[in-house]
Amino acid sequence: MKKRILITGSGGREHALAWKLSQSPEAGELFIAPGNAGTSAIGENVPLAAGDVDALVAFALENRIDFTVVGPDDALAAGVVNAFEDAGLKIFGPRRESARLESSKAFAKSFMRRHGIPTAAYAEFTDFQTARAYCAAAAYPLVVKADGLALGKGVVIVANPAEAETALRQCMEDRVFGDAGARVVVEEFLTGVECSLHALVDGRQALLFPDCRDHKKAYDGDLGPNTGGMGTISPSGSVHDSLREVIRREILDRFLTGLQCDGLDFRGMLFPGLMLTADGPKVLEFNCRWGDPETQVLVRRLKSDLLPLLEATAAGRLDGCHAEWREESAVCVVLASGGYPGPVEKGKPISGLAEAAAGESVEIFHAGTRIQGPETITNGGRVLGVTALGQSLGAARSAAYAAADHIGFEGVQMRSDIGRCPA
Ligand code: AMP
Ligand code: GLY
Repeated sequence: MKKRILITGSGGREHALAWKLSQSPEAGELFIAPGNAGTSAIGENVPLAAGDVDALVAFALENRIDFTVVGPDDALAAGVVNAFEDAGLKIFGPRRESARLESSKAFAKSFMRRHGIPTAAYAEFTDFQTARAYCAAAAYPLVVKADGLALGKGVVIVANPAEAETALRQCMEDRVFGDAGARVVVEEFLTGVECSLHALVDGRQALLFPDCRDHKKAYDGDLGPNTGGMGTISPSGSVHDSLREVIRREILDRFLTGLQCDGLDFRGMLFPGLMLTADGPKVLEFNCRWGDPETQVLVRRLKSDLLPLLEATAAGRLDGCHAEWREESAVCVVLASGGYPGPVEKGKPISGLAEAAAGESVEIFHAGTRIQGPETITNGGRVLGVTALGQSLGAARSAAYAAADHIGFEGVQMRSDIGRCPA
């Protein structure tokens, strides 16, 4: 019997997951809550938010959903997996207790320290004056991080005690990130190139995916404010076989041992952000979900059927599973609304989608889009992710940019150097 699948979320990541899962021979009807214009072309959009846990459980029970895949981090932190499993429903993602590895940076840092996972040296504080005194005597630069989820905005790199004080005050006293800033982590500044890792973790073992690189800054040359991600490449070009073995041994194996020691039941996607330093790879953060836009390039390279891999992960039986990957490179270029990551205007008609999609090896994943009458209109900060495969990174990049150039909407903003920065 074909399986009825629910995907929660509305971004490019969720469209990419829906696209890949819809190709599974075992996939039946696909539902996306709440989805976007792109997902409505391959499944049925359900008008429920990814964080509306009770309503999602009720929907899944009523509609005999066989398997659910969670997109965003805040739904995991809110316990959507606990609620589904308690209702006897199968779901992909870690339970709330394990999702704390993403939703509390202090929890993640103490986990890493306890289990010998390489990461930046740090101290944590709940008292503003104590944090300020620590920063007054520290070496710079330093990194000040809000403990909780802050929409990717809770990390500030500070160059001197005055900047540190401002960052601490905004976080701890002014509470610009709400309760997420009640506790802070102050961390050693690491230098190197960044890369994104993904691994399916079934509680006892891990299946490591190819590496990717995100481009988090808004503008060319890695300038401007941090965003959710303006584009990705896979492979990153920085992780050769011997480094992959170091990552496996020092990060993944120690992570798995740590789960056992701490009695944490982690079944889902582990996505560590890494800094590749002169002293080896170090974990900047753990994410407990698929990256966005990392997912877009990963699904383009994955040859295997994704559905059985996710089901095996959720069931705690990844043994014997393996994934096949295309040798080609994949590139994703994000088209965002003008002003992103700040406030944006929505509702702008999008042109050129069909022409862009006609490009060889091109797939377009929607993020902030919506159907209005005969038109597809913008509906958020990141609007589209244009992806392409190529025999080389350069070929994939050329194909992605050639496709992206067909697309227009008022205020469109994209980086022109995805895959070329850092040079
Ligand atoms: P995070 O959310 O912790 O991954 O931080 C967001 C971004 O801040 C990372 O992608 C890095 O670019 C930067 N960052 C975080 N921690 C550090 C660190 N210890 N040293 C240098 N840069 C950092
Ligand atoms: N692209 C980075 C993230 O998903 O956190």
